[in-house]
Amino acid sequence: MEMKQRMGKRLVLFPLPLQGHLNPMFQLADILHSKGFSISVIHTHFNAPNPDNHTNFTFHPIADGLLETEASTADVIGLFAALNAKCVSPFRDCLSQMLSDQGEPIAFLITDAFWPFTQAIADGLKLPRIVLRTTNISSFVCFAAFPLLRQKGYLPIQDNRLEEPVAELPPLKVKDIPRVSTADPEVVFEFACRTCNEVKASRGLIFNTFEELEESALSAIRQEFGIPVFPIGPFHKRIPPSSSSILPPDKSCISWLNNQSPNSVLYVSFGSIVAIKEAEFLEIAWGLANSMQPFLWVIRPGLVRGSSSGSGATHPLPDELAEMVAGRAHIVGWAPQLDVLAHPATGGFWTHSGWNSTLESVCEGVPMICLPKFADQMANARYVSDVWKVGIQLENGLGRQNVEKAVRRLMVEKEGEEMRERIACLKEKATLCLAEGGSSHKYLENLASHMLSV
Ligand code: UDX
Repeated sequence: MEMKQRMGKRLVLFPLPLQGHLNPMFQLADILHSKGFSISVIHTHFNAPNPDNHTNFTFHPIADGLLETEASTADVIGLFAALNAKCVSPFRDCLSQMLSDQGEPIAFLITDAFWPFTQAIADGLKLPRIVLRTTNISSFVCFAAFPLLRQKGYLPIQDNRLEEPVAELPPLKVKDIPRVSTADPEVVFEFACRTCNEVKASRGLIFNTFEELEESALSAIRQEFGIPVFPIGPFHKRIPPSSSSILPPDKSCISWLNNQSPNSVLYVSFGSIVAIKEAEFLEIAWGLANSMQPFLWVIRPGLVRGSSSGSGATHPLPDELAEMVAGRAHIVGWAPQLDVLAHPATGGFWTHSGWNSTLESVCEGVPMICLPKFADQMANARYVSDVWKVGIQLENGLGRQNVEKAVRRLMVEKEGEEMRERIACLKEKATLCLAEGGSSHKYLENLASHMLSV
């Protein structure tokens, strides 16, 4: 690992306590630490990180005041609203205390974009704030366009217009616009506007992506936001990432993969939040079984709605199905995903198209089947299938025949092979951009000097 001399400047990081946000924030922390910055992390009690996994950093817990009913990802917008209301005073007290402590001067505050309340506090304390947006740039452009999309009549989304193209944001269709199911869609709209306004008031915007993947979105966001933008990804490929996993990964899947042929296994995982109905679970399971391909499936506690969301057993397959796939399938509650994707036996990834999963798949050259469910996932899937052409969207429903067909297209047919070739080119670009002279390398140098210039 590149380890610069300590330079006596501290950064304070404030991650959003969800898996898909914690991973990139801690990877960013590792990167900036390797550039010589000291790192302090302010964190909520909810999904608190384990300091033992990051012994170089100092940790400052704050009381998030979440009620038991609020401390859940069932309604993420409700969770974000509660956190942004309840963390204000504890965060301000913690940060001012840190600023008044003797010790290394604090150069910058880095927060997740979904902590909009922190901009006013940073301003009040005269501390510059930089934002990490954990999605890609293209979907963020769409998120930032909510006022325009409302003005043009796309929002609120009408069910009879889902297939229409969004002329202002090609190649997106109406159904690809970020959507989150919550009681009041107005709350989502307001949260999006507030988030973007507070990003515009910040001193810079970091993305876990790379310029070659999203050139036009990068110029659009620069123009729209008027602040420096730093696409410095893929984060996890810069330095070996430390673990920020909330659930313990089951390493048995690696020994299982060791016994499978190259590119033969479909890895199936829908991230940390997506929940599906029992009926969908069964169609997925039957489709996988009928495809006759080996698969490794992450059935996370809580994946199937109504089943236990605590840690514990995964949702069982019906007996008949379990017998049918015995020897050809391996099921775990949580996987060491980076290792699984990098394994030579893994030949395809059926994903919910969360941005971390998508980028991780690109970095290992693994083509995808996309089953986006909410937020940025639909836009990610559109880029995967229509722009980068490295994956298949399951657009005609989740029936078992559709599933079986998609799996065979990806794993057996020529179409899948062509996608594997195209994603191998993206993988190469993802590697080159990090090397001396590469785009992400250059942006990281810029970011580091930006943070030292204040
Ligand atoms: C959420 C949103 O859904 C996503 O769209 C947004 O871009 C970020 O926040 P999540 O749904 O969890 O995240 O998906 P994703 O972005 O793919 O992040 C999941 C992370 O968990 C990945 O880094 C992945 O490597 C890790 N993971 C997932 C595991 O380590 N093991 C698993 O079994 C599954």
